[in-house]
Amino acid sequence: MKPFLDVLAGKATARPPIWLMRQAGRYLPEYRAIRSQARDFLHFCYSPELAIEATMQPIRRFSFDAAIIFSDILVIPDALGQSVRFAEGEGPRLEAMETPEALKGLASALDEEKLEPVYNALRGVRAALPPSVALIGFCGAPWTLATYMIGGRGTPDQAPARHFAYQHPEAFQSLTDLLVEACTRHLCLQAEAGAEALQIFDSWAGNLPERELRRWSEAPIGRIIAGVKARHPSVPIIAFPRGIAGGFSRFVSETNCDAISLDTACALSDIRKQLPPGMVTQGNLDPLVLINGGSGLDAAVDHILESTAGLPHVFNLGHGILPPTPIPHVEAMLRRVRG
Ligand code: CP3
Repeated sequence: MKPFLDVLAGKATARPPIWLMRQAGRYLPEYRAIRSQARDFLHFCYSPELAIEATMQPIRRFSFDAAIIFSDILVIPDALGQSVRFAEGEGPRLEAMETPEALKGLASALDEEKLEPVYNALRGVRAALPPSVALIGFCGAPWTLATYMIGGRGTPDQAPARHFAYQHPEAFQSLTDLLVEACTRHLCLQAEAGAEALQIFDSWAGNLPERELRRWSEAPIGRIIAGVKARHPSVPIIAFPRGIAGGFSRFVSETNCDAISLDTACALSDIRKQLPPGMVTQGNLDPLVLINGGSGLDAAVDHILESTAGLPHVFNLGHGILPPTPIPHVEAMLRRVRG
């Protein structure tokens, strides 16, 4: 029995299952200890033993209802031949691809051999997980991947990719098509290696106007979901289109996702009006309220529990957990969610 998968199948549970985006990571002292053993972050992601251990750490400590495989969305550009590195304390640095010519340097398909350690880690985690805990595989959505591939780094407003898409829509469409194929393949291979649910992170969807959202976020995600469903019809797919505010109704109908992960700014009291009846939701505690803790945290948790009572909902954050989060606050949140 896996409560997380029950809810993804549309069943409301008395208490929502819970996991946290970025639950493996730097807020955990045991993560920091093993992280210091690896040469660099990508090397860590491609070392199955380390990735298995990082995936299992938050499960052992907090008994979350789902484990998410320890990896990164940027393994896809890496496996397409773009140089990717993680500068210590600065985040990702890619060789920026600012012109249509630069995109010609990418491989025409994913180097699956390069990603084999990720699939090996999934197999190892699946074997190690308690029977009640589900395993999640993931990828970045084409738009979010493209923002890093074109900008070469995280940018405050994704301006480099937005300019590129306006200036070179055909080249941008070709990049999107390549990423649709790569994401579909990567998700299928993760399902074949033991992932029981999949999540697509479109962390930067919120900067796209309506028509661009349709073209660069919804349409490609819809194609990925259709492609994965053709081979793995029973694996539920969660989409996380961060920051799309009023756009959920169309997003859900255009992508055909099984569940929608709601960001922090999304009003739970209002969201049901936008969603089809019975739609599965996930989210959306503010990662900053979790850092602050106390009665503010209790009230925020209660608001989510009350707003989603009797509905198929997975308790989560509205974005990833942040490194300064105190562990006692995570414990307090868990006690409250679990009753
Ligand atoms: O959720 C999990 O615990 C699984 C692992 C996971 C990581 N990244 C590990 C990671 C997942 C699901 C991701 C997704 C991811 N990666 C996203 C989408 C979700 C989101 O937060 O919006 C994005 C945009 C990235 C790209 C990325 N990777 C950035 C921008 C950074 C640097 C900023 C930061 O948070 O550190 C990373 C590095 C990264 N990915 C770390 C971890 C644990 C920290 C690096 C380290 O340990 O040195």
